[in-house]
Amino acid sequence: MKTNFSNLLVALLALVMCAACCDTPSGENYRFKDGMIVFDEPQRAAGQESMLGFAAEPIPVVRVGFVGLGMRGPGAVSRFTHLEGVEIKGLCDLEQHNVSKCQSMLERASMPKADEYVGEEAYKELCQRDDVDLIYIATDWLNHTPIALYAMEHGKHVAIEVPAAVSVEECWQLVDTSERTRRHCMMLENCVYDFFELTCLNMAQHGLFGEILHAEGAYIHNLSDYWNDYHGNWRLDFNQKHRGDVYATHGFGPVCQALNIHRGNRLTYLVCMDTKSVNGLEIAKAKMGVEEFANGDHTTTLLKTEQGQTIEIQHNVYTPRPYNRLYQLTGTKGFANKYPIQGFTFVPGQLPSEVLKGATVEAQKIDLSKVDPASVPEATLNPHNFVTPEVKRAVMEAYKHDIHREIEEKAKQVGGHGGMDFVMDYRLVYCLQNGLPLDQDVYDAAEWSCIGELSATSAKHNSMPVAVPDFTRGEWNKLQGLKFHTK
Ligand SMILES: NC(=O)c1ccc[n+]([C@@H]2O[C@H](COP(=O)([O-])OP(=O)(O)OC[C@H]3O[C@@H](n4cnc5c(N)ncnc54)[C@H](O)[C@@H]3O)[C@@H](O)[C@H]2O)c1
Repeated sequence: MKTNFSNLLVALLALVMCAACCDTPSGENYRFKDGMIVFDEPQRAAGQESMLGFAAEPIPVVRVGFVGLGMRGPGAVSRFTHLEGVEIKGLCDLEQHNVSKCQSMLERASMPKADEYVGEEAYKELCQRDDVDLIYIATDWLNHTPIALYAMEHGKHVAIEVPAAVSVEECWQLVDTSERTRRHCMMLENCVYDFFELTCLNMAQHGLFGEILHAEGAYIHNLSDYWNDYHGNWRLDFNQKHRGDVYATHGFGPVCQALNIHRGNRLTYLVCMDTKSVNGLEIAKAKMGVEEFANGDHTTTLLKTEQGQTIEIQHNVYTPRPYNRLYQLTGTKGFANKYPIQGFTFVPGQLPSEVLKGATVEAQKIDLSKVDPASVPEATLNPHNFVTPEVKRAVMEAYKHDIHREIEEKAKQVGGHGGMDFVMDYRLVYCLQNGLPLDQDVYDAAEWSCIGELSATSAKHNSMPVAVPDFTRGEWNKLQGLKFHTK
């Protein structure tokens, strides 16, 4: 009888232990809790402080080293030749010819030659220099975080191409290293500086859309013309191995800004569903001789925020479709849409009368000097249609962001995706020169980059909800709204 009882106890204990260990799938850094997947969130180490609102000492002349000079990197080098108060100290790549190409850009711009670093670990020597302030990283995705960590450990600020990190663990590494070393870690999310997005952000901050309830973003870009051009086939190789939205930040960053993520709001959880891979698999079969491809042709992720909003983001780089980042804001009083048609919808009374009058004057070719402005009829707004082209133009002009007022003309001359890339570099350098907080902080980099692994994990578990880590560790409500700092 006694033996039976102890056997029962042992069996019960085994059951309880099994239930506990089943909560944490073996080898994973997440567990199942209350119907949700929850990733491990490391504690902040003693002596480490938040980077919210962080400003470094002003750097009047920003000395920069570039790492990764393939298709994207040289554009950044070229743009930096148009910025005041910068010195390009180092150029680093795996290939000498890429370094030489950028060296000639400096020569053409009558800038001093930069030192050259070639090879897999050559960036380390560049990061060890004491006459470099900023390391600008445009390598393949797997190299982003390791190089950024090394650079911050050696006292450098870092700017990292998108996505800054490829896993939740790497996101935490960036946050912890930035907090510990007190170095800026900015992801180079250029789309937040695009002309429509930044104008809409300004409109949102002025309440033009009422309360924003739902937002959409995407990276829909058929990459068939590019698959052969990535160094060592890194991009197809990564996608072949990884499910989920592996390139979320272009669509996600701008809508997170409009929803004040970690500036009074936060992402709570997501669910993800993807299609099977057809075109991706076909490309990979032909190029890599593989029989499997993890990344679905079309991946859709839905997120919820603390303030009760939803966000939908999509990823598709395989099927024939016009380029599309969606960018939609659905508010209680208005709506903005960027692709395929830029437009706004507002309920009557939602636009200031001066803006509407300006549009009416343009539409009806009225010469205001000859009539009483008060008698000019207002263009009509209704909740069903896009506003007229004249109203759209007037709104875009009235709510043009101060950053664009300042730099738009030069940005369009210098270029880089129509100018937004130059606006981004300009703001990065301006904030460093003036000792201001950067527009995008390390928490943005982590929040926007973690979507890759979180969405993959949801898809793997039949679209199970996945909690989005709070990389600010409880301080998401400390800053109120996004500010672009100026001196
Ligand atoms: N923001 C944007 O609009 C935008 C546009 C295109 C690409 N990107 C990003 O830019 C990055 C680069 O993309 P790409 O299209 O130029 O790829 P690419 O393959 O053309 O270039 C990558 C370069 O990194 C170099 N590299 C790799 N490991 C290195 C190391 N250890 N040290 C030094 N150099 C190293 C390679 O030699 C190669 O020249 C990616 O992160 C991509 O997502 C962003």
